[in-house]
Amino acid sequence: MVEENGLKDLIACHTRISSIIDDHLAYAGYDISELMDNQASFEETIYLLWNLRLPTASEYEKFTSELRANYEISDAVEQCILIQSRKHLHPMSVLRSTVSLLGVYNVHAEERSLEATYEQSIQLMAKIPTIIATFARLRNGQTPIAPRNDLGFAENFLYMLTGKEAQAIEIEALNKALILHADHELNASTFAARVCASTLSDIYSCVTTAIGTLKGPLHGGANERVFDMLQEIRACGDTEAYLQQKLASQEKIMGFGHRVYKKQDPRESYLRQMAKELTQKTEHEIWYQLSREIEDYMKHSKGLIPNVDFYSATVYHVLGIDSSIFTLIFAMSRVAGWIAHIQEQQGFNKLIRPRSHYLGPEKLSYIPLERRSYA
Ligand SMILES: CC(C)(COP(=O)(O)OP(=O)(O)OC[C@H]1O[C@@H](n2cnc3c(N)ncnc32)[C@H](O)[C@@H]1OP(=O)(O)O)[C@@H](O)C(=O)NCCC(=O)NCCS
Repeated sequence: MVEENGLKDLIACHTRISSIIDDHLAYAGYDISELMDNQASFEETIYLLWNLRLPTASEYEKFTSELRANYEISDAVEQCILIQSRKHLHPMSVLRSTVSLLGVYNVHAEERSLEATYEQSIQLMAKIPTIIATFARLRNGQTPIAPRNDLGFAENFLYMLTGKEAQAIEIEALNKALILHADHELNASTFAARVCASTLSDIYSCVTTAIGTLKGPLHGGANERVFDMLQEIRACGDTEAYLQQKLASQEKIMGFGHRVYKKQDPRESYLRQMAKELTQKTEHEIWYQLSREIEDYMKHSKGLIPNVDFYSATVYHVLGIDSSIFTLIFAMSRVAGWIAHIQEQQGFNKLIRPRSHYLGPEKLSYIPLERRSYA
């Protein structure tokens, strides 16, 4: 049955934004290796997803200036993040409600013209890193750091998070991780965003819907759990015994398996290489070594491949990002893809409203409350 199958292999829309063909991921026709191997920036990737072509030098200049001019968040939004910065609140819930709030504070949020949609898109894209860094610092009892509009997307984020200018290798690693997570065809959160867009709802509602969907451990929440697992394995000291026990109790090993990729997740090899380079000869080397042990065991015992979340856990940890906000980093990148899909859906809209196959009883008679009982 379709629902038991999770709509597996069902084509639900047409798109020009990204494709997965023979285990190759491409953005608007560019294989991700083209972007990775030619040192593309994340900003160029956003432009590509939104415009279906790479920018010229002057377009790039204008686009990055617009993003940088919108990095800042208002005091009102910062205050709301402060209220939500308690440790027990789930970081993705905080991001979800803060993005929703951006829509409340934007007086033009209900406008649907191309210009208004573009402005809303730029604002969302530019402010989400500031929201995340502000939240991460407030939650740790630190003062938020204002964005610097002389810095690019990845560099500015690391600066706001740590208060220090990041090293070139760190900026490159985050830039690449952001590119690799930016879009992924009709994944669950993108589908959710498109369903919301198809009702002609506003862009803030669509992105809020997508964040709620990405939050789940079977989608974006996996990399946070990958790092928990690495820490548990380090503490237990026996990778094989740990995995055997988990698999014997039917638990899923986070960061493995994929709905679409069965031989290789094309994003994973770049993240593995980054994890290797960033950890080499540092105190963090252990995380890379343990990851390799887990990968070998999972391949041989279950034939399962690591996915994008597996090595990104080590990369983010080395960049000084707390595991509790890993999924927020995913959202910070994927919002580029969500917005592209929302705009595409708006451009050729048809309400997405499938049918369900009813399995319950039919033609029941109403029994008054006082006579109603169930055996
Ligand atoms: C990504 C995922 C949801 C894909 O799910 P799916 O296409 O519905 O595949 P299934 O869950 O049906 O898995 C097929 C088989 O592989 C097994 N399997 C898949 N992923 C597994 C994992 N991470 N650990 C252990 N076993 C796994 C399933 O138990 C199932 O075995 P069975 O046929 O004996 O029942 C699934 O692989 C998963 O839960 N992975 C862990 C979470 C994760 O890393 N998510 C990030 C995705 S990018």
